[in-house]
Amino acid sequence: MLSNAFVAHSLDEVRFWSRIMKEHSLFLKLGFRCEDTQLIHEANQFYAIFEGIERKSHEFTVETDPEQIRRFNIEVYSAASHIWAFKRRVLGLVLSCQMPGANNFPLLIDHTSREANYFRNRLEQLNNGRLEPLPDAIIDENVFFLRIMADHAKFIGHLLDPSERQLVEQARNFSHDFDELLFQARDLDSMRPQSQTIPLLDQFLDQNRVSVASLRDFKKTARDLIEACRIKSIIHPLLADHVYREAERFLAIIDMFEQSLTSVQHQ
Ligand SMILES: [Fe+2]
Ligand SMILES: [Fe+2]
Repeated sequence: MLSNAFVAHSLDEVRFWSRIMKEHSLFLKLGFRCEDTQLIHEANQFYAIFEGIERKSHEFTVETDPEQIRRFNIEVYSAASHIWAFKRRVLGLVLSCQMPGANNFPLLIDHTSREANYFRNRLEQLNNGRLEPLPDAIIDENVFFLRIMADHAKFIGHLLDPSERQLVEQARNFSHDFDELLFQARDLDSMRPQSQTIPLLDQFLDQNRVSVASLRDFKKTARDLIEACRIKSIIHPLLADHVYREAERFLAIIDMFEQSLTSVQHQ
Protein backbone atom coordinates (compact mmCIF):
# COMPACT_ATOMS: atom_id res chain seq x y z
CA MET A 1 0.00 0.00 0.00
CA LEU A 2 1.59 3.27 -1.11
CA SER A 3 1.48 6.10 1.40
CA ASN A 4 2.05 9.82 1.84
CA ALA A 5 5.60 9.01 2.94
CA PHE A 6 6.08 7.35 -0.43
CA VAL A 7 4.90 10.56 -2.13
CA ALA A 8 7.16 12.75 0.02
CA HIS A 9 10.23 10.59 -0.59
CA SER A 10 9.53 10.33 -4.30
CA LEU A 11 9.12 14.08 -4.73
CA ASP A 12 12.30 14.74 -2.76
CA GLU A 13 14.36 12.41 -4.96
CA VAL A 14 12.82 13.59 -8.22
CA ARG A 15 13.18 17.30 -7.39
CA PHE A 16 16.83 16.89 -6.47
CA TRP A 17 17.94 14.54 -9.25
CA SER A 18 15.90 15.98 -12.12
CA ARG A 19 17.65 19.32 -11.59
CA ILE A 20 20.98 17.46 -11.54
CA MET A 21 20.11 15.62 -14.80
CA LYS A 22 19.03 18.90 -16.39
CA GLU A 23 22.38 20.45 -15.50
CA HIS A 24 24.31 17.42 -16.79
CA SER A 25 22.66 18.01 -20.17
CA LEU A 26 23.99 21.56 -20.12
CA PHE A 27 27.52 20.52 -19.06
CA LEU A 28 27.64 17.85 -21.77
CA LYS A 29 26.47 20.35 -24.35
CA LEU A 30 29.12 22.88 -23.33
CA GLY A 31 31.79 20.21 -23.79
CA PHE A 32 30.77 19.32 -27.36
CA ARG A 33 32.44 20.85 -30.42
CA CYS A 34 30.57 23.27 -32.72
CA GLU A 35 30.23 20.57 -35.37
CA ASP A 36 28.60 18.08 -32.97
CA THR A 37 25.21 19.50 -33.89
CA GLN A 38 23.28 16.25 -33.47
CA LEU A 39 24.70 15.67 -29.98
CA ILE A 40 24.01 19.30 -29.04
CA HIS A 41 20.44 18.83 -30.23
CA GLU A 42 20.05 15.68 -28.11
CA ALA A 43 21.53 17.41 -25.07
CA ASN A 44 19.04 20.26 -25.52
CA GLN A 45 16.21 17.74 -25.69
CA PHE A 46 17.32 16.14 -22.42
CA TYR A 47 17.55 19.57 -20.85
CA ALA A 48 13.93 20.27 -21.83
CA ILE A 49 12.75 16.83 -20.65
CA PHE A 50 14.29 17.17 -17.19
CA GLU A 51 13.22 20.78 -16.90
CA GLY A 52 9.66 19.57 -17.53
CA ILE A 53 10.00 16.78 -14.96
CA GLU A 54 11.39 19.21 -12.42
CA ARG A 55 8.51 21.63 -13.01
CA LYS A 56 5.95 18.86 -12.71
CA SER A 57 7.53 17.56 -9.49
CA HIS A 58 7.01 20.99 -7.93
CA GLU A 59 3.37 21.04 -8.98
CA PHE A 60 2.68 17.85 -7.00
CA THR A 61 2.35 17.98 -3.22
CA VAL A 62 2.44 15.38 -0.44
CA GLU A 63 -1.34 15.29 -0.81
CA THR A 64 -1.11 13.99 -4.38
CA ASP A 65 -2.56 10.55 -5.01
CA PRO A 66 0.26 8.01 -4.48
CA GLU A 67 -0.88 6.10 -7.57
CA GLN A 68 -0.31 9.20 -9.70
CA ILE A 69 3.20 9.54 -8.25
CA ARG A 70 3.90 5.87 -8.90
CA ARG A 71 3.11 6.46 -12.59
CA PHE A 72 5.17 9.67 -12.60
CA ASN A 73 8.12 7.73 -11.17
CA ILE A 74 7.87 5.25 -14.05
CA GLU A 75 7.92 8.12 -16.55
CA VAL A 76 10.96 9.68 -14.83
CA TYR A 77 12.64 6.26 -14.69
CA SER A 78 12.36 6.05 -18.45
CA ALA A 79 13.86 9.54 -18.92
CA ALA A 80 16.73 8.65 -16.55
CA SER A 81 17.37 5.45 -18.53
CA HIS A 82 17.51 7.40 -21.78
CA ILE A 83 19.94 10.01 -20.49
CA TRP A 84 22.06 7.18 -19.04
CA ALA A 85 22.23 5.57 -22.51
CA PHE A 86 23.07 8.94 -24.10
CA LYS A 87 25.93 9.50 -21.65
CA ARG A 88 27.31 6.00 -22.26
CA ARG A 89 27.17 6.61 -26.02
CA VAL A 90 29.04 9.92 -25.66
CA LEU A 91 31.59 8.18 -23.43
CA GLY A 92 32.11 5.57 -26.15
CA LEU A 93 32.70 8.28 -28.76
CA VAL A 94 35.26 10.06 -26.57
CA LEU A 95 37.07 6.86 -25.60
CA SER A 96 37.34 5.74 -29.22
CA CYS A 97 38.79 9.17 -30.13
CA GLN A 98 35.89 10.04 -32.40
CA MET A 99 35.53 13.49 -30.85
CA PRO A 100 39.01 14.96 -30.80
CA GLY A 101 39.04 18.31 -29.06
CA ALA A 102 35.79 17.82 -27.13
CA ASN A 103 35.96 19.30 -23.68
CA ASN A 104 34.53 16.79 -21.24
CA PHE A 105 36.74 14.35 -19.40
CA PRO A 106 35.76 10.70 -19.92
CA LEU A 107 35.65 10.29 -16.12
CA LEU A 108 33.19 13.17 -15.89
CA ILE A 109 30.90 11.60 -18.50
CA ASP A 110 31.14 8.23 -16.76
CA HIS A 111 30.46 9.96 -13.43
CA THR A 112 27.27 11.61 -14.69
CA SER A 113 26.10 8.26 -16.08
CA ARG A 114 26.63 6.66 -12.66
CA GLU A 115 24.46 9.40 -11.15
CA ALA A 116 21.74 8.72 -13.72
CA ASN A 117 21.90 5.05 -12.87
CA TYR A 118 21.67 5.80 -9.14
CA PHE A 119 18.59 7.97 -9.76
CA ARG A 120 16.98 5.23 -11.81
CA ASN A 121 17.62 2.65 -9.08
CA ARG A 122 16.17 4.91 -6.40
CA LEU A 123 12.98 5.32 -8.43
CA GLU A 124 12.68 1.58 -8.82
CA GLN A 125 13.24 1.07 -5.08
CA LEU A 126 10.61 3.69 -4.25
CA ASN A 127 8.03 2.08 -6.50
CA ASN A 128 8.82 -1.26 -4.87
CA GLY A 129 8.00 0.27 -1.49
CA ARG A 130 11.55 0.73 -0.24
CA LEU A 131 11.42 4.32 0.98
CA GLU A 132 14.61 4.65 2.95
CA PRO A 133 17.80 2.78 2.26
CA LEU A 134 18.06 -0.25 4.56
CA PRO A 135 20.92 -0.59 7.10
CA ASP A 136 22.07 -3.29 4.75
CA ALA A 137 22.53 -0.63 2.08
CA ILE A 138 24.53 1.80 4.23
CA ILE A 139 27.88 0.59 2.97
CA ASP A 140 26.75 0.41 -0.68
CA GLU A 141 25.34 3.90 -0.56
CA ASN A 142 28.55 5.24 0.97
CA VAL A 143 30.67 3.43 -1.61
CA PHE A 144 28.63 5.16 -4.31
CA PHE A 145 28.85 8.64 -2.80
CA LEU A 146 32.48 8.43 -1.66
CA ARG A 147 33.50 7.68 -5.23
CA ILE A 148 31.36 10.58 -6.44
CA MET A 149 33.11 12.89 -3.95
CA ALA A 150 36.56 11.59 -4.93
CA ASP A 151 35.72 12.28 -8.59
CA HIS A 152 34.55 15.82 -7.78
CA ALA A 153 37.86 16.59 -6.09
CA LYS A 154 39.65 15.34 -9.20
CA PHE A 155 37.49 17.39 -11.57
CA ILE A 156 38.03 20.54 -9.52
CA GLY A 157 41.78 19.92 -9.42
CA HIS A 158 41.93 19.47 -13.18
CA LEU A 159 39.65 22.35 -14.16
CA LEU A 160 41.29 24.98 -11.97
CA ASP A 161 43.94 27.00 -13.73
CA PRO A 162 47.33 25.33 -13.10
CA SER A 163 48.55 28.63 -11.68
CA GLU A 164 46.08 28.33 -8.77
CA ARG A 165 48.66 26.18 -7.07
CA GLN A 166 47.26 26.19 -3.53
CA LEU A 167 43.73 25.33 -4.56
CA VAL A 168 44.97 22.62 -6.92
CA GLU A 169 46.97 21.16 -4.04
CA GLN A 170 43.94 21.23 -1.74
CA ALA A 171 41.82 19.52 -4.38
CA ARG A 172 44.49 16.85 -4.79
CA ASN A 173 44.50 16.22 -1.03
CA PHE A 174 40.74 15.81 -1.03
CA SER A 175 41.01 13.40 -3.92
CA HIS A 176 43.53 11.35 -1.94
CA ASP A 177 41.42 11.42 1.27
CA PHE A 178 38.31 10.24 -0.55
CA ASP A 179 40.15 7.52 -2.40
CA GLU A 180 41.31 6.25 1.00
CA LEU A 181 37.80 6.43 2.45
CA LEU A 182 36.53 4.54 -0.55
CA PHE A 183 39.06 1.75 -0.03
CA GLN A 184 38.09 1.65 3.64
CA ALA A 185 34.43 1.34 2.68
CA ARG A 186 35.26 -1.52 0.31
CA ASP A 187 37.24 -3.28 3.02
CA LEU A 188 34.27 -3.00 5.36
CA ASP A 189 32.01 -4.21 2.59
CA SER A 190 33.97 -7.42 2.09
CA MET A 191 33.68 -8.16 5.84
CA ARG A 192 29.92 -8.58 5.53
CA PRO A 193 27.82 -9.59 7.35
CA GLN A 194 30.03 -9.17 10.43
CA SER A 195 30.73 -5.56 9.48
CA GLN A 196 27.03 -4.75 9.82
CA THR A 197 27.29 -4.19 13.56
CA ILE A 198 26.02 -0.82 14.71
CA PRO A 199 29.23 0.46 16.40
CA LEU A 200 31.25 -0.20 13.25
CA LEU A 201 28.71 1.45 10.97
CA ASP A 202 28.39 4.35 13.38
CA GLN A 203 32.12 4.96 13.38
CA PHE A 204 32.22 4.57 9.60
CA LEU A 205 29.53 7.23 9.17
CA ASP A 206 31.21 9.60 11.66
CA GLN A 207 34.46 9.42 9.76
CA ASN A 208 32.76 9.99 6.43
CA ARG A 209 30.78 12.91 7.75
CA VAL A 210 33.89 14.80 8.89
CA SER A 211 35.51 14.47 5.46
CA VAL A 212 32.37 15.23 3.48
CA ALA A 213 31.68 18.34 5.58
CA SER A 214 35.16 19.64 4.91
CA LEU A 215 34.93 18.90 1.17
CA ARG A 216 31.53 20.60 1.16
CA ASP A 217 33.09 23.73 2.71
CA PHE A 218 35.90 23.68 0.17
CA LYS A 219 33.38 23.44 -2.68
CA LYS A 220 31.37 26.29 -1.21
CA THR A 221 34.44 28.50 -1.04
CA ALA A 222 35.40 27.57 -4.59
CA ARG A 223 31.89 28.26 -5.80
CA ASP A 224 31.81 31.69 -4.15
CA LEU A 225 35.24 32.59 -5.53
CA ILE A 226 34.28 31.44 -9.03
CA GLU A 227 31.02 33.40 -8.92
CA ALA A 228 32.89 36.51 -7.79
CA CYS A 229 35.47 35.96 -10.56
CA ARG A 230 38.25 35.85 -8.00
CA ILE A 231 39.98 32.67 -9.16
CA LYS A 232 41.19 31.42 -12.52
CA SER A 233 39.55 28.27 -13.79
CA ILE A 234 37.44 26.77 -16.57
CA ILE A 235 34.82 25.64 -14.04
CA HIS A 236 31.30 26.78 -14.93
CA PRO A 237 29.78 28.53 -11.87
CA LEU A 238 26.81 26.20 -12.13
CA LEU A 239 29.11 23.16 -12.02
CA ALA A 240 30.70 24.51 -8.83
CA ASP A 241 27.25 24.87 -7.27
CA HIS A 242 26.17 21.48 -8.62
CA VAL A 243 28.97 19.54 -6.92
CA TYR A 244 28.37 21.55 -3.73
CA ARG A 245 24.70 20.46 -3.72
CA GLU A 246 25.71 16.83 -4.23
CA ALA A 247 27.94 17.00 -1.14
CA GLU A 248 25.04 18.46 0.84
CA ARG A 249 22.89 15.59 -0.36
CA PHE A 250 25.45 13.02 0.82
CA LEU A 251 25.60 14.72 4.24
CA ALA A 252 21.82 14.57 4.55
CA ILE A 253 21.92 10.85 3.69
CA ILE A 254 24.63 10.24 6.32
CA ASP A 255 22.44 12.01 8.91
CA MET A 256 19.47 9.90 7.92
CA PHE A 257 21.53 6.71 8.32
CA GLU A 258 22.77 7.83 11.74
CA GLN A 259 19.20 8.41 12.84
CA SER A 260 18.09 5.02 11.62
CA LEU A 261 21.00 3.38 13.49
CA THR A 262 20.07 5.25 16.66
CA SER A 263 16.46 4.15 16.40
CA VAL A 264 17.53 0.51 15.88
CA GLN A 265 19.76 0.78 18.95
CA HIS A 266 16.93 2.09 21.12
CA GLN A 267 14.45 -0.56 20.08
FE1 LIG B 1 26.16 15.51 -10.99
FE1 LIG C 1 28.60 14.52 -9.29
